[in-house]
Amino acid sequence: MNDISISIIVAMAQNNCIGKDNKMPWHLPEDLKHFKSLTMDHPVIMGRKTFESIIGYLGKPLPERTSIVVSRAGLKTDHNIETANSLEQSIEMAKKIAIDSGKAEIFIIGGAQIYKSAINLADKIHLTQIHESIDGDAFFPEISAQDWKTITREDHIKNTPPHSFLTLERKTPAKI
Ligand SMILES: NC(=O)c1ccc[n+]([C@@H]2O[C@H](COP(=O)([O-])OP(=O)(O)OC[C@H]3O[C@@H](n4cnc5c(N)ncnc54)[C@H](OP(=O)(O)O)[C@@H]3O)[C@@H](O)[C@H]2O)c1
Repeated sequence: MNDISISIIVAMAQNNCIGKDNKMPWHLPEDLKHFKSLTMDHPVIMGRKTFESIIGYLGKPLPERTSIVVSRAGLKTDHNIETANSLEQSIEMAKKIAIDSGKAEIFIIGGAQIYKSAINLADKIHLTQIHESIDGDAFFPEISAQDWKTITREDHIKNTPPHSFLTLERKTPAKI
């Protein structure tokens, strides 16, 4: 189980904004493609509000990925998803699904509340940096240079909005 990497995947503006009114505050098809290529066929963990946001956009859960939705209050839905009442439980569930399907990585896909807890548990962050400050009401926690190092970076500076795809790896042991 410990061979399975716990990855956060997030797109974040310069001011750490990740969302507004329970939606993504930008339209960036390149990032959606990037998100899809990394998460496809893997288990994805999300908070209840992010799940509701995805249903608002797509009318269904993310296709071809097992969605595990975290809710303390409990969630009633007809959609084909798994539910967990803690982040830790969702990680255990996702790891089992990853092992059963021959995958080595699970993804924590937001939102702000879930990222805040998950940043201490994750091994890796797939970060899309949007090189603009954006108005919003949901934010990613500070990423400390003491804890994280950049291992890959791909710049798309001429795009609108300009952005970069980074992979960060934890320097210090996860606080699990
Ligand atoms: N830019 C990005 O990459 C990105 C990615 C994903 C989401 N977002 C944005 O993030 C925003 C949503 O974030 P959010 O913070 O409002 O909501 P969220 O983290 O998606 O969901 C919050 C809900 O998750 C449950 N929860 C949170 N922590 C829990 C824990 N430790 N144990 C059990 N359940 C827990 C609670 O559900 P109950 O209330 O049901 O108990 C809570 O109300 C939206 O604007 C969305 O668009 C951005």
